[in-house]
Amino acid sequence: MTGALLEVENLKGYYRGAFGIVHGVDGVTLSLESGEVVGLAGESGCGKSTLAELVSGSPPRNLYYEGGKIVVDGFEIYKIDPEILRKEVKCKRMSYVPQASMESLNPVKKIRKFLLDVMYERTGEKPREEEIIRMAAEHFKKLGLEPWVLDRYPFELSGGMKQRVVIGISTLWNPKLLIVDEPTSALDVVSQKRMIRALMDLKEEGIIKSILFISHDISTLRQICDRCVVMYAGKIVETGSMEDIISSPLHPYTQGLISSIVSYEPGRRRRGRYIKSIPGEHPDLRNPPPGCRFHPRCPYAMETCKSEEPPVIFSEKGKREVSCWLYSRGGK
Ligand SMILES: Nc1ncnc2c1ncn2[C@@H]1O[C@H](COP(=O)(O)OP(=O)(O)OP(=O)(O)O)[C@@H](O)[C@H]1O
Ligand code: SF4
Ligand SMILES: [Mg+2]
Repeated sequence: MTGALLEVENLKGYYRGAFGIVHGVDGVTLSLESGEVVGLAGESGCGKSTLAELVSGSPPRNLYYEGGKIVVDGFEIYKIDPEILRKEVKCKRMSYVPQASMESLNPVKKIRKFLLDVMYERTGEKPREEEIIRMAAEHFKKLGLEPWVLDRYPFELSGGMKQRVVIGISTLWNPKLLIVDEPTSALDVVSQKRMIRALMDLKEEGIIKSILFISHDISTLRQICDRCVVMYAGKIVETGSMEDIISSPLHPYTQGLISSIVSYEPGRRRRGRYIKSIPGEHPDLRNPPPGCRFHPRCPYAMETCKSEEPPVIFSEKGKREVSCWLYSRGGK
């Protein structure tokens, strides 16, 4: 993996929970090149946010880094000095917008004051107010936000505006990589489209180079991503171009995920929508199933799947990866 903006290798991160250790991310390897928009998909609880928290370098206290490697633009996150992480990596090279982050805006502070406080926290220096506010007002315009937004309290703004404010603050330092976790899931369809357009504009203007876009919603990812990474139970099960993942999913879990999207069934007399779902429940990650973690729900499960972890199969010159015994050369 060379020339990548983000490299993750065999990453493991676990939670210390009240009832045991939760294997939130359990051996994840992925990379993201400069210029790419990569979607991270998978059902609730599969470890998407945990992966983002680990990559951010500041996971919550009960989530601990167990092993593996994360390199952002040449900086190895869990090896470098925390001061270098703060000054050289965060904001400048990578910015992370956590899930539900619009709720992190302080309800009793105007956006202007909140921004200045964030600035102080990140740089450790008292910000030059006039200059920063001028810069922010200019930058906010790129996200379709008028300068008056800076003089409003969060409750005076719509959900879509608050989300764009958070993205605006996070991209003020032109980070090469932006990681956004479910930025559209709390928004109505119009606001979702606006948000996606705003992110694309930031990328087209070169303000950010790459995006890791996290969403459980494949139809949202399809609107913005070049490539898609599918997670299941703390592991990556499939990677490919967005179109390949949608038109020809290889992994049985991805196949289920794609057919869960509301579809049309033209052959029926009453043409209507139907939803197929994946049978069974997502496993408890305190005690994940042995072998392939999907085997209790997989219609193709074989004996081997119950005890042996599937290999990663690379195809189409490394552009496609799938972790499933069905594609193993020797078969099982
Ligand atoms: N603070 C926590 N303490 C203990 N376990 C946690 C904590 N946060 C998440 N988990 C567990 O870690 C696993 C991965 O959770 P994570 O939040 O990363 O999933 P996700 O894919 O982001 O889900 P969603 O789509 O609902 O946001 C789940 O089993 C979850 O219950
Ligand atoms: S490895 Fe086996 S259980 Fe897992 S997805 Fe493939 S066929 Fe199904
Ligand atoms: Mg999440």
